[in-house]
Amino acid sequence: MSSRKQRKLEHIQHALSVGQDRTHGLEDIKFVHQSLPNTNIDQIDISTKVGELLLSSPILINAMTGGGGEYTRSINKSLSLVAKYSNIPLAVGSQMSAIKDPSERSTFQIARKVNPNGIILANLGSEATVEDAKRAVDMIEANGLQIHLNVIQELVMPEGDRNFEDALLRIEKIIHSISVPVIVKEVGFGMSKETCQRLTDAGVSLVDIGGMGGTNFSSIENKRRTRVLDYFETWGIPTAASIAEAASSKLPLTIIASGGIQNALDVAKSIALGASVTAFAGHFLKLLLNLGEQALKEEISNIERDLKFIMTALGAKSIKELQNAPIVISGDTYHWLVQRGID
Ligand code: FNR
Repeated sequence: MSSRKQRKLEHIQHALSVGQDRTHGLEDIKFVHQSLPNTNIDQIDISTKVGELLLSSPILINAMTGGGGEYTRSINKSLSLVAKYSNIPLAVGSQMSAIKDPSERSTFQIARKVNPNGIILANLGSEATVEDAKRAVDMIEANGLQIHLNVIQELVMPEGDRNFEDALLRIEKIIHSISVPVIVKEVGFGMSKETCQRLTDAGVSLVDIGGMGGTNFSSIENKRRTRVLDYFETWGIPTAASIAEAASSKLPLTIIASGGIQNALDVAKSIALGASVTAFAGHFLKLLLNLGEQALKEEISNIERDLKFIMTALGAKSIKELQNAPIVISGDTYHWLVQRGID
């Protein structure tokens, strides 16, 4: 087995087993109860938009299955079948392996094969060139492209990159050269308002803030090395603070919230902080691999139903109205926002 394939399998194994002693901070967000919401659950609309892409609900299955090989192909097939059934978008994992080795393309193309008309997002790292980006999009007839920023993961990864120069320049070139929307995403360390400002200046309009508090790629990569870099284990901007960072400067950005999102309350709170969409990775992967496709389909439909219950209670008839629902912020997230000058 190639070392890249082996690494991707280890990521899946460790993502399932690594414990969680950090938090996404969403427990610091409280909704203010409304006794006269004036709503009817039948009229709650949870549809939303990522740029020009219309989504039936604010739930997206985030990138997980890079690498290649039969196992990741079968996971991509299952995730894509679930995405089709639930009518939600799916992002495939990093396609760099298939750009380097065409025999690995079917790992990703299976996602399009089982869901010809769904929204499927391509995925590459920020080392990608314009040519790589075009190939990744064409490979799966993608409706959009995610470019992931994963500096901490690379640093902890024994065989990872050590040079992060010119990433923004490459992203800027890709945005101006491909015809589908580009989403720049983190992988669990969060984005600051400064990062969002620099991305916006380069022409980015869609970000997935990928905050700290869910899958921990420091712990996962530390499991794969002998000398552990423990100082990166608790590194990052928690998801709640990162959504607020991204939303704080009123930049022309659509925010996708991710990083430890587990249920409808997490989704609702993320939207109230300024997100338009939420993305699930680790929680959905665990459900799929432990309980199967049917359990994941049921979980997604339960989250959508619970979100409608929450919106009914709050008097929010649409995702836009939910973005304006009154909240109170306490704890570490409150202190974070005060010290960062975010109100
Ligand atoms: C990931 N993630 C990821 N992201 C990406 O952009 N490209 C990739 O190839 C992968 N691969 C990958 C594999 C596995 C096994 C997991 C669990 C995750 C990161 C993922 O999309 C997401 O940003 C983080 O996992 C944080 O979200 P959760 O897991 O806390 O919901």
